[in-house]
Amino acid sequence: MILVTGGTGLVGSHLLYQLSLENDAIKAIHRKNSDLLAVKNVFQYFSADYELLFQKIKWVEADITDIISLEEAFKNVKEVYHCAALVSFNSKDYRAMCEINIEGTSNIVNFCIANKLKKLCFVSSIATIEKSVSNKFTSEADEWNMEKGSYGYAMTKYEAEMEVWRASQEGVPIVIVNPGVILGAGFWHQGTGAMFSKINSGFPFYSEGVTGFVSVNDVVKAMLLLMKSGIVNERYILVSENSSFKEVFYQIAKNFGKKPPSIKVTKLMSAIGWRLEKLKSVFTNIPATLTKHATKSIHEKRYYSSEKVQKDFNFNFESISETIKNICGLYKKEFK
Ligand SMILES: NC(=O)c1ccc[n+]([C@@H]2O[C@H](COP(=O)([O-])OP(=O)(O)OC[C@H]3O[C@@H](n4cnc5c(N)ncnc54)[C@H](OP(=O)(O)O)[C@@H]3O)[C@@H](O)[C@H]2O)c1
Repeated sequence: MILVTGGTGLVGSHLLYQLSLENDAIKAIHRKNSDLLAVKNVFQYFSADYELLFQKIKWVEADITDIISLEEAFKNVKEVYHCAALVSFNSKDYRAMCEINIEGTSNIVNFCIANKLKKLCFVSSIATIEKSVSNKFTSEADEWNMEKGSYGYAMTKYEAEMEVWRASQEGVPIVIVNPGVILGAGFWHQGTGAMFSKINSGFPFYSEGVTGFVSVNDVVKAMLLLMKSGIVNERYILVSENSSFKEVFYQIAKNFGKKPPSIKVTKLMSAIGWRLEKLKSVFTNIPATLTKHATKSIHEKRYYSSEKVQKDFNFNFESISETIKNICGLYKKEFK
């Protein structure tokens, strides 16, 4: 039996679809208010038999921070894909990220050790890998530093990775993937999905910051390959291309037939923007969508190397232009 955490999110839902094509024994956890229809919607993009495939999944209500609820979820489980996390740039979410990302992962790891699992795959992030000091391209060999500027999400994902390495020391075979910014269809009003709906509605801003981008298809493909392979106790950066936000936004706009964002966000605009948002949130109690870290990161230029996965698996990544074209195509079909 395979167990997936975070199956109601972007990576987890696409992973569940791929797993459902080849497996009958799949469990996925969801929380009380999780949106299972959004997962079914993802299945619908790829198969006319989506109902049958979706029915293969045994959904168990559980929260990774609640040990009792995980007891049932782990019954008869031999392999785990741990995708659940709280992804946030908001410092107000730091406590919740510690609970979900660190303690939640620690709980998953403890169950994996106690149940002598066959293998655990953990979805980490490039955020846990420090920018290389000697090379242009950051690789898996670049250790992370708890530097002053580190932010909550990166710190908690790094600590979560440490928990997963603990599992390996306790005899559980593990693999870790460190994806860049993941682009995929569905969940259009949250995470990277919101980038597509916003640009479709005429979002006018762009920045010249650079980071690694990857398609959710490639993230899932790599996770499945790693779990099937004899590779254990390794981590892999998953980045198809290092690209500027300007270029990615431009390509999204072009695929939607919209005018590309034309207002360059300067560092000064960002600095004013997040402060105004913070002030607004004090008076309205609505969490700021623009945060200090988010605005800082859009100006940074970071380049990542995926040579390790390409060499070890002869892995070919989808180009980001192909990824964007496919996602925009599914978006247009859904909202035509
Ligand atoms: N998206 C990216 O660009 C990106 C890039 C690099 C790495 N990652 C990593 O990839 C993984 C998946 O990201 P994603 O984009 O798919 O995230 P997402 O769409 O925000 O989904 C997060 C998932 O985690 C679940 N979750 C959160 N707290 C939980 C809890 N306490 N108990 C059980 N489940 C909980 C959510 O369930 P509910 O439905 O109940 O909320 C949801 O299924 C994460 O580990 C993230 O750190 C993401």
